[in-house]
Amino acid sequence: MAAGKRGGNSRSQLDYYSLKAKKEGYPARSVYKLEEIQQKFQIIKPGNTVLDIGAAPGSWTLYVHRKLLKGQGHIVAVDLKPLMLDPLPAQVTVLTGDAFAPEQVDSITSRGPYHAVISDAAPSTTGNRSVDSLRSQGLAESIISLVPQLLHPGGNLVIKLFQGGGEQEVVKAMRNLFTRVKTFKPKACRKDSFEIFLIGSDLKRAEM
Ligand SMILES: C[S@@+](CC[C@H](N)C(=O)[O-])C[C@H]1O[C@@H](n2cnc3c(N)ncnc32)[C@H](O)[C@@H]1O
Repeated sequence: MAAGKRGGNSRSQLDYYSLKAKKEGYPARSVYKLEEIQQKFQIIKPGNTVLDIGAAPGSWTLYVHRKLLKGQGHIVAVDLKPLMLDPLPAQVTVLTGDAFAPEQVDSITSRGPYHAVISDAAPSTTGNRSVDSLRSQGLAESIISLVPQLLHPGGNLVIKLFQGGGEQEVVKAMRNLFTRVKTFKPKACRKDSFEIFLIGSDLKRAEM
């Protein structure tokens, strides 16, 4: 069984959200997870500067551009793989490579600070749930460690995490930084998926 999901053949079928994404011109069904997160937590406002980590093929970036920024603001989208957005909106800067490589961190940081950091980043899975959960936790912790240098005070964070690893440690690390931290499982997550999203709202000011 692949990690991050339970058995069954639902992945091979074109489900409701995949068909909707196709119809609405989004390259992946994951867009509807962000839509639910935004509807519940209002993490992004018109005119914001947004960092999307693990952005390929580009649904979250396209949704933020189309629906949330209202023609103002900017999105920096970073992924190991290229985005599949054609044409690429002028409001989007794409950075290709490992988001945590020192030169990429410099490049991301120099374009900030951001009002929101959103991450749907996921490790390549091995099929071993413990290994995959640990890798997912590693990605989440790498993002959290960058938060103080990336986000404006008052800013918001969304990260994906595979359940089964150090969920509590990750939540605890976020509670040190944000006024509110919530765990959320969008309806659009596949039924066989172990993923959840952690939402940190209102980054506290750093203590002097
Ligand atoms: C589920 S996909 C994201 C889908 C995207 N939110 C969308 O709606 O189109 C997860 C992405 O995380 C990326 N990723 C994983 N580790 C990464 C890293 N260290 N740096 C940058 N991207 C990474 C993968 O390349 C993959 O494209």
